[in-house]
Amino acid sequence: MQNRSMKMLGASAALVLGLTACSGGGAGSDEGDGGGDAAPEDMTVGVAMPTQTYERWLNDGASVEEGLEELGYTADLQFADDDIPTQQQQIDQMITQEYDALIIASIDGSALTSQLDAAEAAGIPVISYDRLLTNSENVDFYVTFDNFAVGQNQANALLYGLGVLDENFEPADDAPEETLNVELFAGSLDDNNARFFWDGAMDVLEPYIEDGTLAVPSGQTTIEQAATQRWEQETAQERMENLLTSDYRGEEELDGVLSPADPLSRGIINALRSAGMGDTIEDGLPIVTGQDAEIASVSLIAEGVQHSTIFKDTRNLADEAVKAADAFLNGEEPEANDTESYDNGSAVIPSFLLPVEMILEENYEEILVDSGFYTEEQVESGQQ
Ligand code: BGC
Repeated sequence: MQNRSMKMLGASAALVLGLTACSGGGAGSDEGDGGGDAAPEDMTVGVAMPTQTYERWLNDGASVEEGLEELGYTADLQFADDDIPTQQQQIDQMITQEYDALIIASIDGSALTSQLDAAEAAGIPVISYDRLLTNSENVDFYVTFDNFAVGQNQANALLYGLGVLDENFEPADDAPEETLNVELFAGSLDDNNARFFWDGAMDVLEPYIEDGTLAVPSGQTTIEQAATQRWEQETAQERMENLLTSDYRGEEELDGVLSPADPLSRGIINALRSAGMGDTIEDGLPIVTGQDAEIASVSLIAEGVQHSTIFKDTRNLADEAVKAADAFLNGEEPEANDTESYDNGSAVIPSFLLPVEMILEENYEEILVDSGFYTEEQVESGQQ
């Protein structure tokens, strides 16, 4: 078990360092407007982002736009309010306007197949951004993080917070003897990432559930039961409230919650606090995980409220997307570092995966403040 956990923690680094880079076979948009004859100044890249309600997509959008403009391209950045028809329309328009490349972070990864067909027919290369576009061969490249490792890191953070693992992520000498109660949350089922996060987390947690170290009193242990449609904070908060009312009435204690994203974590924490389960971890608040290192959650981590999050440096993701677009527009293939993991149902999409980092109260300063990602003032105020 202990070796497994450690291997998992190292998985993202090994993946990034260990894989031989090989160029992915594009999905057939090689007759696109790129080809090296037009200047960047004459080319426009459409950037379709899902929503402005999550801090990360705002940052992603701004970084992609900036990166494209630095290379001389025009960027058309659109957000779709988490509404699928809006996103379809935005992309239809980008194709009608004969944009030269598309960078798409989908709402529902399977809802854009006709747009992808049209892009292919028009010779416009498509880069799937962070979330995999599914059920279509017409996806030329995928840039993302090591999503399975995100889930593994979330689960390891939970086990560490519960005292099952020590600070080296090995079985703790003073691990609690009694069974610990946890509840599990997943993301939106139409987002391919949600399954990767869940599978990564369950890969780590299942053995502990099987051997009785952990119990899930609600019995809700499938991704369908744990899912949070459209990743909405209120939905997660409501589900937590309902679980507390139905399964934690008497003596039952809740020790931890696997949460896949920071806004959901904050919704869950609201529910736990309102139910009088403590204000901070020190005074009994259950261990809650997260993802994205949003400033409001990093602030809660610094205050000992949220236990952990996962940092994904979206500036690097934006860079990779811009590099991939630039390669296609110069008639080249972008460099993939994974040509196996992301089968979208129609084809295995050549991918570039970036590493992720676990953030805890003891390392947020080093990873997020010393590196200049956030200032200490931002962490204190909880605002960017
Ligand atoms: C992203 C996460 C994000 C979630 C909700 C996922 O596809 O990978 O970083 O928290 O969507 O927006």
